[in-house]
Amino acid sequence: MRAEFPTQPPTQPPTQLPATAPSALPSRDVGRSAALGGESSLAEAESLRGLRGIILSSPVAASIVTPQKRASTPPVLLSVAVFDSHKYDCGPLKEACAKALQNPQCDKPPVSIELRFLESHLDVHSAALAKGCEAVCVFVNDKVSAEVLQELKSLGVRLVALRCAGYNNVDLQAAKRLGIAVARVPEYSPHAVAEHAVALLLALNRKLVRASQRVRDGNFLLEGLVGFDLFGKTVGVVGTGKIGAVFARIMHGFGCRVLASDPVRNEALAKEPWLQYCEFPVLLEQSDIVSLHLPLTPESWHLLNADSIGRLKRGVMLINTGRGGLIETEALIAALKSGGVGAAGLDVYEEEEGVFFADHSGTVLTDDKLTWLLMCPNVLITAHQAFLTQEALQQLAAVTVRNLSALAHGEVPGQGCVDGQRWLAGL
Ligand SMILES: NC(=O)c1ccc[n+]([C@@H]2O[C@H](COP(=O)([O-])OP(=O)(O)OC[C@H]3O[C@@H](n4cnc5c(N)ncnc54)[C@H](O)[C@@H]3O)[C@@H](O)[C@H]2O)c1
Repeated sequence: MRAEFPTQPPTQPPTQLPATAPSALPSRDVGRSAALGGESSLAEAESLRGLRGIILSSPVAASIVTPQKRASTPPVLLSVAVFDSHKYDCGPLKEACAKALQNPQCDKPPVSIELRFLESHLDVHSAALAKGCEAVCVFVNDKVSAEVLQELKSLGVRLVALRCAGYNNVDLQAAKRLGIAVARVPEYSPHAVAEHAVALLLALNRKLVRASQRVRDGNFLLEGLVGFDLFGKTVGVVGTGKIGAVFARIMHGFGCRVLASDPVRNEALAKEPWLQYCEFPVLLEQSDIVSLHLPLTPESWHLLNADSIGRLKRGVMLINTGRGGLIETEALIAALKSGGVGAAGLDVYEEEEGVFFADHSGTVLTDDKLTWLLMCPNVLITAHQAFLTQEALQQLAAVTVRNLSALAHGEVPGQGCVDGQRWLAGL
């Protein structure tokens, strides 16, 4: 249920944390938060959509302290600049903030998080929009480079909270050097991403987009719409972590034989009689469908290149919901032209930054490779939406708010004790 936000700010001043909590945040004026606006300022700001970097909404939670809690434990304030924010992020983040304030962890003061929603991506030009914030919240195409981190540091930012799992866009070494903590959401509905991979696979195989366009046009012919049975086919799963494991199980449900490649075996999966771990080249040679579920790292960049694509079974279907940089686009295009690759379902694209998550419908795309792929009848592209389910958004928001609250509570780990999962760098 959505929380309601009364217009009056709480009367109790925010908590001043004791000096014994070195990284806990100092309190600030709650009245200032309320003055920045709530839902009404969101409406005003939204009428200005299209202007990059505009503040869409401000504090969401400062005024929903219950009387009992207000009397006992006043909230600690935390200001957060939320870059690359969209309507679908705002609701779940506001709700998670409201929950954090209404149901504080026992023995901890509640945290009142002021969210400054920004349309802009984070980069060297927009970093200044985080002025006055202790933390920034970023997404997959925000550029968290050394230069940006340096600028954030000078503004007093102490935490970069990624509202995603992948962190290839963050210079972690620079963050460590500068003493800026980096947290991510290591897991949020692996089902969302795995199911989207399956959606791409099915839509491509059964030519659903083409079929739908055809019947809308009054053309009920079936020529050119022949697919294949998934039953009995071999599916290669590259990366058998959380998402790859869910995808493998769904493919098993279709009656597929599943091959898997991962330097770290998933022991639960390895016990399944229907799945076989093998070397990557074997997976390439034997699979009718190959689906990528590994992170983008310097080692995995262009994992599928001219050489590895050349090893694939002729006519293979490729699915990529991992990261665009896992596939060398030029090699993929060459293979689509020659028929080496029969079809490709892509939720990610190596040059997606600056294109995805924005409306370019009134302009000419200048990326020739993307334009070519979009024209191809056997390519289906979605704009990095595999994560986009209600459940995933709620989990992303809840863990992000937990990570932010840790800063307010002085619970951010030191550099030496980050866990590598939720905490990628400490203070
Ligand atoms: N499209 C989207 O919306 C979306 C959403 C979430 C995650 N993702 C991507 O999916 C990736 C996988 O997510 P996850 O939650 O399953 O991560 P995970 O960490 O649970 O699993 C990743 C697996 O990949 C394996 N791996 C690493 N290098 C490999 C290699 N060279 N070959 C084969 N396997 C390798 C790891 O050992 C691990 O088991 C993320 O890194 C992210 O980039 C995309």
